[in-house]
Amino acid sequence: MIQIKMLKKAMKEGYIVPAFNFANFEILKGLIDACVETKSPVILQVSESAINYFGDELLKGLILGIRKIKLPISIHLDHGANMQVVKRAISLGFDSVMIDGSTLPFKDNVKITKQVVKFAHSKGVSVEGELGVLAISNDDGLLSDGERFTDPKQAKEFVELTGVDSLAISIGTNHGIKKYVGKPKIRYDILSKIEKVIPNTPIVLHGASLVEQKYIEKINVNGGDIEYAVGNANLLKNAYKTHISKINMDTDFRLAYTSEIREYMVENPTKYCPRAYGKAGVLSVKECAKNRIVKVCHSNDKA
Ligand code: G3H
Ligand code: 13P
Ligand code: ZN
Repeated sequence: MIQIKMLKKAMKEGYIVPAFNFANFEILKGLIDACVETKSPVILQVSESAINYFGDELLKGLILGIRKIKLPISIHLDHGANMQVVKRAISLGFDSVMIDGSTLPFKDNVKITKQVVKFAHSKGVSVEGELGVLAISNDDGLLSDGERFTDPKQAKEFVELTGVDSLAISIGTNHGIKKYVGKPKIRYDILSKIEKVIPNTPIVLHGASLVEQKYIEKINVNGGDIEYAVGNANLLKNAYKTHISKINMDTDFRLAYTSEIREYMVENPTKYCPRAYGKAGVLSVKECAKNRIVKVCHSNDKA
């Protein structure tokens, strides 16, 4: 179980393993180039919609190619919704799966997670579970009804009952561009309580993108129309000192890629070769990933 070894090593040595989603080939290339240059281990994540986008056979081929790279790399199913997609990912050669039962009642989340752990472990595949529901937050807490921070007591019970290898928690971050209203805040106080009750379980932070203004600005000055938003900039500076051993980032690479391509298109109206603008996108993703590896994860030279 390569991923769990990677996470335990990170937890022991005080760094974070970057878990980067790839939505297309160019983003994958930028991410891999960044990890090779910085000598960083990496978890390359694929959502169910990304599996559908690539198609099973092409994705299988890509995974075989990824295996040739001389770095600790784990291929991971992000936000698996049910046993069917878990089985599909394992049959495609994934090393690890997430089962996301976070919106289910506790009892049902335990049930599905336990089933997935039993199946995945029998195939030598590790499992990430999730407890707590991510949402937009402000200083007072989460903004939407029904969404909740992770309860530390329940976290202990959940890990014991399910046997998950790592646990994703809700402490203020959110998926996508819009994470906070008002002053951004991550509830490190809740994290400390969780760490105390599950000291040997690597913790996963979803919704970790920094959402830098420079990307939104570049999109908008080049014909885009994206709402300005504030992400996790500065909030994750010391996360590597905690038990957060895996951080998930996707939005940052979507922004890095799209902003550069928009600019390229505007500045080069006569060009139409996809490799020309694709390359601009790859380089932008690479720079963004290198920054996250060095400044947030401290995983450079840990391969
Ligand atoms: O957390 C979710 C990821 O950002 C995946 O999004 O389903 O659009 O690939 P997606
Ligand atoms: P971001 O939207 O902050 O990139 O989070 C991605 C994520 O959590 C994927 O699971
Ligand atoms: Zn996520």
